[in-house]
Amino acid sequence: MHGLKKSILLLVTLFCAASCARDNVPLYKDTTAPLEQRVEDALSRLTLEEKVAMLSAQSKFSSPGVPRLGIPDIWMSDGPFGVREDNRWDEWGTASHTNDSCTAFPALSCLAATWDRDMALRYGQALGEESRYRGKTVQLAPGVNIFRTPLCGRNFEYMGEDPLLVSRMAVPYIQGIQQNHVAACIKHYALNNQEAHRHDIECVIGERALREIYLPAFEAAVKDGGVWTVMGAYNKYKGKYCCENAPLVNGILKGEWGFDGVMVSDWGGATNTDDSVNGGLDLEFGTWTDGLTEGLSNAYPLYCLADAYENGLKSGKYSIEGLDDKVRRVLRLIFRTTMSGSTDFGSFASPEHFALSREIASEGITLLKNDADVLPIALDGIKKILVVGDNATARHIDAGGSMYLKTKYEITPLEGLLSAVGDRAEVRYVRGYRPCPAPGEPEDAEALRNEAVEAAKDADIVLFFGGHNRWAHQDCEGLDKLQYNLPYCQDALIEALGAVTDRLVVTLITGTSVPMPWADSAESILYGWYGGSEGGNAVADVLFGKKNPSGRLPFTIAKALDDYPMHHLGLYDPDNAGEVVYGEGIYVGYRWFDKMDIEPQFPFGYGLSYTDFEFGEPSADRKSIKEDGKIRIRVPVRNVGKREGSAVVQLYAHRTGASQVDRPERELKDFGKISLAPGEKGTVELELPAEALRWYDEASGCWRVEKGDYEAQLGTSSRDLFASIPFAVK
Ligand code: BGC
Repeated sequence: MHGLKKSILLLVTLFCAASCARDNVPLYKDTTAPLEQRVEDALSRLTLEEKVAMLSAQSKFSSPGVPRLGIPDIWMSDGPFGVREDNRWDEWGTASHTNDSCTAFPALSCLAATWDRDMALRYGQALGEESRYRGKTVQLAPGVNIFRTPLCGRNFEYMGEDPLLVSRMAVPYIQGIQQNHVAACIKHYALNNQEAHRHDIECVIGERALREIYLPAFEAAVKDGGVWTVMGAYNKYKGKYCCENAPLVNGILKGEWGFDGVMVSDWGGATNTDDSVNGGLDLEFGTWTDGLTEGLSNAYPLYCLADAYENGLKSGKYSIEGLDDKVRRVLRLIFRTTMSGSTDFGSFASPEHFALSREIASEGITLLKNDADVLPIALDGIKKILVVGDNATARHIDAGGSMYLKTKYEITPLEGLLSAVGDRAEVRYVRGYRPCPAPGEPEDAEALRNEAVEAAKDADIVLFFGGHNRWAHQDCEGLDKLQYNLPYCQDALIEALGAVTDRLVVTLITGTSVPMPWADSAESILYGWYGGSEGGNAVADVLFGKKNPSGRLPFTIAKALDDYPMHHLGLYDPDNAGEVVYGEGIYVGYRWFDKMDIEPQFPFGYGLSYTDFEFGEPSADRKSIKEDGKIRIRVPVRNVGKREGSAVVQLYAHRTGASQVDRPERELKDFGKISLAPGEKGTVELELPAEALRWYDEASGCWRVEKGDYEAQLGTSSRDLFASIPFAVK
């Protein structure tokens, strides 16, 4: 059989080569030929110098192709929420083009809060279309590092604390991008869970926690998403930088998972030629050249994979097989993207993309409290609306680090509210608090607060918009937050507003968790996230009931910082540039809160709706499974309220029998979202493969599924369970 297959392949190759030769098209350019044949054909035509040149940057965001052979350059673009404007060739500054204002989509923390895989697919498709239109080869997205501390500056770019949720959202997002013949680039591999000392910190972690918590999203991206590129993290693991890390890259990524794509360095993540060559790096970007501080101009020949590599190859220090493996990967990337033969050129900043951006933003908005049904706001009876807070008017898209975007427009919450209200009520705005770069109370904090409180006394409803912004030490790359509490004295302001009104709605624009010592003072609390270009309209859609909220928290909101394991165990130390110890092991997020029996402010998976759902008796198709089997569970759901709305049913696995291994109380294994009209009934179908119950055995270095008794727990959050189904693995 094997022989027959080989002969057929040979015949096809010969036929193809013959017909291409007839048309005078070299095999590597024939987009109908099998990928690997194109790769081998191209490889055979390259000189050593051309091969080496393909492995490092020629400008801030591009690497060279082979002009002689018509193989195009590779063009990279940040980031996860849109296509970044073009830079100047060798500088970080803008190229000042006038045709690159994109659609800004919501931050990935907002996407994660939708718990909607279809939404993730459509997000990826639209982003891929924009990227393709802008002529990009690789979109540097998604970011999937796990929320370990609320202080991490990049939590807003990532998708929360649970490896299954992150994996499930990342896979369709990647597929959506790549359907456009643009490569996704999942980042940052691995363990970039804080920004403090991200360039050098050594992450000390047990193999089990690494495998069960921090790697699953990358593994799913490779195995299920078929991702074409992976970006290394800056930090170190086992003494080596992650971009040049043989155990992580050669061992796990390329070896165990069979990744055949390109390992890209983070910008400046490669540090020396030996490690880059031997540690699995394929494509190097952004390297600094004078000791990790500033770059020389046009220093590209000094890159680790440039001249030094070429010299080492010529002297026999490095192998040609090693070089060819890297070049094959880069060629594969080019043939999958720019030279795929697709004549689809994408679309850019279209009304459809802005409409989708609004849809995703409103789908992610998460309602956490709604006493006395203050929301949705019914305008009859409301004459005066007071809007308070800097985030009602602040724009965020053009800041925060590498994910910043130049967008065509950004609707603020105040603008969204004004267009939703029209002339049906009076809308007044007072600022209430002022962001300032320094920690501590700004001088005018009290005056601003008093002004807002006075105005609130006279209003029928007070809408407060606070949270973070994308400044340094807020939701921003490169730096962590300096405090868990809301900045700029917002806690005192919210409390003071609550004392003078019984209709206070707090909307938080942020990408991380914050404590809510003022929770009793507000009638309603929402997570509005960073909603992108249409964020303000999306918030208005939810506040006025055009959209029934159905977001669910992708992370646990703790009452106090020390409730999080990293802080409880004293493992977070921004003054320590040496190492960070992952001492909590697998007990991250709700796994820790369950183990320690800590009551969160709001649990993982939590979110309310303007309607109510009734969950019927769930049924399973079997009571026991073998190690390669799966259980299918059906959960009847009925909308018993008066509005159309969506419910999210979450399936957690819980070990009931005595376990030979330390296990979390429960772990998310599947979820399903269903949208129902008032009175409508439906069924959420969930699956639990035995393989999902696996744990990583450090002693033997392999995954194991423990036989015995389990429960499939069904809930609307990690703490609100409505049913459980016992089953056994035999
Ligand atoms: C960030 C990456 C980004 C790259 C290019 C780095 O500083 O960590 O996420 O893709 O810059 O801008």
